[in-house]
Amino acid sequence: MIKLLEKFLTDAQLQEMNSLLEKAAFTDGALTAGVAARRVKNNLQAKRTQPVIDQAREIFAKAVMQNTEFRDFALPLQVLPPLFSRYETGMCYGDHTDNAMMGGTRTDLAMTLFLSAPDSYDGGELVINTDHEPRCIKLAAGSAIVYSASSIHRVETVTRGQRQVAVTWIQSMVRDAGQREIIIDLTQLINAMRAKQPDAQEALLLSKTRANLLRMWADT
Ligand code: NI
Repeated sequence: MIKLLEKFLTDAQLQEMNSLLEKAAFTDGALTAGVAARRVKNNLQAKRTQPVIDQAREIFAKAVMQNTEFRDFALPLQVLPPLFSRYETGMCYGDHTDNAMMGGTRTDLAMTLFLSAPDSYDGGELVINTDHEPRCIKLAAGSAIVYSASSIHRVETVTRGQRQVAVTWIQSMVRDAGQREIIIDLTQLINAMRAKQPDAQEALLLSKTRANLLRMWADT
């Protein structure tokens, strides 16, 4: 499953994050890649230990906290601090899959937050090989996509301008994607019922079922 989060950042948050990144120092992204990914990774990444990056990470963390859609979809147990990547003209990240574990966190889901206006660069699409067909994703600045970290994916070569993104990984409370889908569907159903009829008994019963399934399936 893939989830689009439109306007994950407010315009003010986006502007602030981008102006922080302008002041940040970037290095070769291959330094943080696994052995196989290193061969296909050609981008720049902001050095982790610098005050402007701490501030940018704070903005990201705030946006995560405020986003119900994100929480309902990812059921996050842990969200890693984001990496900020820059692809200049000619840069790309070939087909790869993400490491299963990152610093003790299991990567169930990956997230890409787009920070550059799509008309300011050509190429640079995120391509995710889903079960059905490749999905080609290029979003408005401030919007994000959450997808399975176990998928094979790539970033197409940037042929004009510069593509800047924040990427992170999430350990979900519910490890199994099929079980997670059931919880996500139930949440949607409960929300739809409550929108029609706030005191619906059926919604209450479904909430009980959802909570009981979470008790069965959730890691802590
Ligand atoms: Ni990746």
